[in-house]
Amino acid sequence: MGERIFVGVAWPYANYLLHAGQAAGAYLPADIFARYHRMAGNDVLMVSGSDCHGTPITVAAGEEGVAPRDIVDRYHPKMLECWERFGISFDLYTTTLTENHRETVQAVFTRLLEQGFLYRGAQDQLYDPEAGRFLPDRYVEGTCPRCGYVEARGDQCDSCGAQLDAVDLIEPRSRLSGAAPEVRASEHFLLRLSAFGDELGAWVRKQAHWRRNVANFTLGVIEEGLKDRAITRDIDWGVPVPVAGYEDKRIYVWFDAVIGYLSAAREWAAREGDPDAWRAWWEDGGTQAFYFIGKDNIVFHTLIWPAMLLGHGGLNLPHDVPANQYVNFAAGQKQSKSKGTATWLLDLLDAHDADAVRFYLTHIMPETSDSEFREEELARVNNEVLIATWGNLANRVLAMIRRDFGGVVPDPGAPCAESEALLAAVRAGFERCAADYAACRFRAALREALSLAQAANRYLDGRAPWKAVKEDRAHAAETLHTALQAISGLCALLHPVLPFSTARLHATLGHAGDPESAGWRPLEAPAGRALGEGGALYRKIDLPEAASA
Ligand code: MF3
Ligand code: ZN
Repeated sequence: MGERIFVGVAWPYANYLLHAGQAAGAYLPADIFARYHRMAGNDVLMVSGSDCHGTPITVAAGEEGVAPRDIVDRYHPKMLECWERFGISFDLYTTTLTENHRETVQAVFTRLLEQGFLYRGAQDQLYDPEAGRFLPDRYVEGTCPRCGYVEARGDQCDSCGAQLDAVDLIEPRSRLSGAAPEVRASEHFLLRLSAFGDELGAWVRKQAHWRRNVANFTLGVIEEGLKDRAITRDIDWGVPVPVAGYEDKRIYVWFDAVIGYLSAAREWAAREGDPDAWRAWWEDGGTQAFYFIGKDNIVFHTLIWPAMLLGHGGLNLPHDVPANQYVNFAAGQKQSKSKGTATWLLDLLDAHDADAVRFYLTHIMPETSDSEFREEELARVNNEVLIATWGNLANRVLAMIRRDFGGVVPDPGAPCAESEALLAAVRAGFERCAADYAACRFRAALREALSLAQAANRYLDGRAPWKAVKEDRAHAAETLHTALQAISGLCALLHPVLPFSTARLHATLGHAGDPESAGWRPLEAPAGRALGEGGALYRKIDLPEAASA
């Protein structure tokens, strides 16, 4: 029995199509990580769901004149389509609209209230006199008091990542009417974050394995002083507050969404027919919980959710929060959104194979700094790296074995030192890639695998089996046998990144089952085995017009 690895992935708001930047920031790294761990024989539970509450949904609904539920019903199925077509292997992808989620959120709320970590307070809120209602979160925009960004929202500044109170915005304006809001008091529940500053600071400082930017950003927020925060809102869409007198208010969407990690584990357990199975994932201290998110979500996962978990007691804190930076999209892309340009994942998947998109997004994954997405780069990387280094290697070896050896794996005889060295390098690659995948260094894992593919190409070029087969058939047999074993190893090493094409190759190589159940090791394709059919693994992408202009 291996380790238990819980993989939580940020719950995307169901008010928009999934953007390729979100895919590269959270979903793809989570999936690569989960697939690696399953191959390594560890027990993985990977969950997320559509974030369906709060002002992101109600603002969108209001703008279109439809119900919040209609927005969710439109975008949640699109999310499911993304996971299916992009190969994101969730154990459960649910929503925050389930009864199970509501019960779990209310139970956590009640528990925190009983423990004294929630309390009531009169809060100054912004109120729109023209619309006759309060303006929580995204209903108000203004200038960030911390960094001066002019389009900060009531609850958060997307530019500096600060958590804000709407009343602190400079020159606030109502998104409903454009009016300058008034300040009015309203009673709310607050989370006593201030009680956790020391404990959280000591905890974060112990996390030597966290990405430096994640730890430093978190410590910076702690040093500014953790303030208690309102976790209810004057809004009618969200989880009801389980306290009499609060019927016209709802729980703040972020308080509800992070509890989704717990409620989803419960839903998964119930679906497995073992309702208590979630406990091992949350209560057993041996379980390691990883949260894959973009940098705009850091504080919710390194401070607010951990504070809630500490206040609740008995539940595992995050082991790691490998937040990514952003992928920026070069100007001149097809779609545009009010704040710049956007490339929807589903559009990319209409145009390209999922593995081509996964490969490029892993290649530019913003692990330590922002990166840039460019369509002509996707094409170039597909053609000049994925295909030239790896796809062609597999293709030409398979083609030669079919042409010169009847499609049967040739007998290597007694392999020479050069052949042994290549296979030893591939075996060592399993340890090195494992270390990178487990530490969420996905770009490094990919580089490592590609450098082995290059070594296999050099081996092949040096020994030229296409010539040798005419003069020294045994030499060619040894070369092709050896190259095929290297390819078999690479098929496993690359599987977390390229699940669709490596699953096909796995079958072509005549291996049983699928790459995940085969384990984290190089499988042998023994002499005498008949290889399967199977066409080209990848397709060349024509460079877009823009590239030549
Ligand atoms: N819906 C949020 C966003 O898209 C992320 C929520 S993550 C969770 O930014 F932890 F709250 F689930
Ligand atoms: Zn700011």
